[in-house]
Amino acid sequence: MKVTVNKHTWMIPLFSLVLACSVSAQTPSPDQRAFDTEQKMTDDERFAMLVSLMGVNGVVQVRDPRIPAGVPMSAGYVAGVPRLGVPALVMSDGSLGITNPGYRKDDTATALPAGLVLGASFNPKLAREAGALLGREARSRQFNVQLAGGVNLARDPRNGRNFEYFSEDPWQSAVLAAETINGIQSEGVISTIKHYSLNVNETNRHWLNAVIDPAAHRESDLLAFQIAIERSQPGSVMCGYNQVNGAAACGSADLLNDVLKRQWGYKGWVMSDWGATQHWDFALKGLDQESGAQLDKLMWKDEYFVGPLKQAYDQGKLAKQRLSDMVRRILRSIYAVGIDQWGPAPKVDMARHRQIALDTARQGIVLLKNEGVLPLAADTNARIAVIGGYAQLGVPSGAGSSTVLPPGGYASVVSVGGSGIMAGGRNLYLLGPSPLAQLKKLLPKAQIEFDPGLDPAEAVLLARRSDVVIVLGIHVASEGFDSPSLALPWGQDAVIQAVASVNPNTIVLLETGNPVTMPWKDSVKAILQAWYPGQAGGQAIAEIITGKVNPSGHLPITFPADLAQTPRPELAGLGTSWGTPTTVRYNEGAEVGYRWFAKTLAQPLYAFGHGLSYTTFAYSNLSITGGETLSATFTVTNTGQREGADVPQVYLTQAAGDRRMRLLGFERVELKAGESRSVTLTADPRLIARFDVGAGGWRIAEGNYKVALARSAVAPVLTGSAALKPRLF
Ligand code: BGC
Repeated sequence: MKVTVNKHTWMIPLFSLVLACSVSAQTPSPDQRAFDTEQKMTDDERFAMLVSLMGVNGVVQVRDPRIPAGVPMSAGYVAGVPRLGVPALVMSDGSLGITNPGYRKDDTATALPAGLVLGASFNPKLAREAGALLGREARSRQFNVQLAGGVNLARDPRNGRNFEYFSEDPWQSAVLAAETINGIQSEGVISTIKHYSLNVNETNRHWLNAVIDPAAHRESDLLAFQIAIERSQPGSVMCGYNQVNGAAACGSADLLNDVLKRQWGYKGWVMSDWGATQHWDFALKGLDQESGAQLDKLMWKDEYFVGPLKQAYDQGKLAKQRLSDMVRRILRSIYAVGIDQWGPAPKVDMARHRQIALDTARQGIVLLKNEGVLPLAADTNARIAVIGGYAQLGVPSGAGSSTVLPPGGYASVVSVGGSGIMAGGRNLYLLGPSPLAQLKKLLPKAQIEFDPGLDPAEAVLLARRSDVVIVLGIHVASEGFDSPSLALPWGQDAVIQAVASVNPNTIVLLETGNPVTMPWKDSVKAILQAWYPGQAGGQAIAEIITGKVNPSGHLPITFPADLAQTPRPELAGLGTSWGTPTTVRYNEGAEVGYRWFAKTLAQPLYAFGHGLSYTTFAYSNLSITGGETLSATFTVTNTGQREGADVPQVYLTQAAGDRRMRLLGFERVELKAGESRSVTLTADPRLIARFDVGAGGWRIAEGNYKVALARSAVAPVLTGSAALKPRLF
């Protein structure tokens, strides 16, 4: 910002200085407080803060006697130092609600839609509300650390955890992750950001070496972490299970000491994922806290930050200075977020929280295709068949450490199982209310019948005598597992195909945690991607189908036509037994998702950013400015008959002569019929630049930069260009 200097300006800084001194005299900074407290601690107190213990669950079956009675069972407990006013840390998962994997009898919480739903809303305000919800529900249960902020990029459409994350794009993911974290921390609860970094496949994740070009890593997954950390200052960074270029992510001096702490200046603490600490010397590489220590003993050999780290300290292998640094980092976040200042637990308005879950589903369900069949009129007396997907019971949610037990409990749980440590949690969880019941409610005059969709021959019997068919496709995406293919399981493609061949008004409703292939795409009239839409998902689906709500979600992840179009048609390690060392080469580098499709010129099934509405939008008046970075100004107009929301997207398409596809910005714009709005988006220059490892910075080459204002990554509407100055920053 420019400041005009005149003869009186000297007075202002002097005054501010006096003010700043008197303020800081009253309230020392979190750094100062951390320094002061740490100095007063004994070594035993210090070491106690470096380990979290896991509560009782399927893996740790007996309550650890080191966890005092009365502490609510959760993912992690770290002893505090009461004599110095340092609270114990009580940690809960996760990004989609306060989880309860059997820890606490009957404790239910708001089950938010999958991260991809929030991603599809392209709505940072909603992310903030969802975060604040997590903060309030955590705090009301005495959890002061929320293991949220999953910002890994959806690099591989088979990844079993994509549903927990936001998108395949670093900017979009960073903006939404940051707002979630800001929401959580605004309620006085520390949030993590996780899983640092490149923890993007689940196959043999503890033994997976993720290989990537270091510059490309900076321009993709690390950039998402970097921007999100800058925008939200999460109290802790959780490092992942995998290795990156041969070093364990939690024992990588390069990623932790150098990139995160030195280059980015991160001041909080690094905690490991549960079962990701394999040696005490990870402390020398930048890991500050071992999480779920019992799991390390089970999986590897020891509770490394309990005995072995103390021994190393006694033998002079761990310097006192580093021990103090580890503790100070934890204390600093405690003070910065204020978890030592808690008053009485806030009252939680669960009805309001349900509304946030509902709004998220409403804004994140994506209408992929619509040939005039949707919406169904509210007063229709049509015969409607609802087929498959347990639509009579509820909507699925993803499985793993993020699964939330909703108010009233699950509608049903079907055990799926598998091999490996996560098999016990791999279930089909169904959350009510059911889409079937909600459709019946909103279409009171229609004759709605249900068929389970188990057998194509049976399903067509109902489809034939119906005017409209809504046929579902579901799958179970789960932590600990990657899908072997993108096809819907359990013969659902055959059911959809059979139904579509006898009924010309077939609508497909997909409730999946990842893209799926659609061999029946051209035989159906409409396709709605509802993901895992959370505890109010059944309602949101029915509202969109009946037009009560205008769809506005846009794909945050590319839907490939098949795996052959993706960077890794074969996934290394898939099919090997749990524990097999695996190397996955992320040779696409920074060209993740839509960027890869732009590079290879392959046509996806549905592109990143795609999403239809029941109204139409036009773009006009695009102007681009250059200089230090690119800025785009344009007008969006709702040219249809009803209110709706659009997500115009600005992409870089060419950089100083090189073809390069990068999302530079987006904005969710809500407009009444006929209304227009002018939007200006200014790109973070790192999205335009290339990372120069040798120079240790971002480099923009001088030249002309082309930009497209688009409806999706493959649908440019207006284009423009501007010149940028050369720079290294
Ligand atoms: C997951 C983390 C989670 C932790 C604690 C791990 O399996 O990868 O995301 O926070 O468990 O439950």
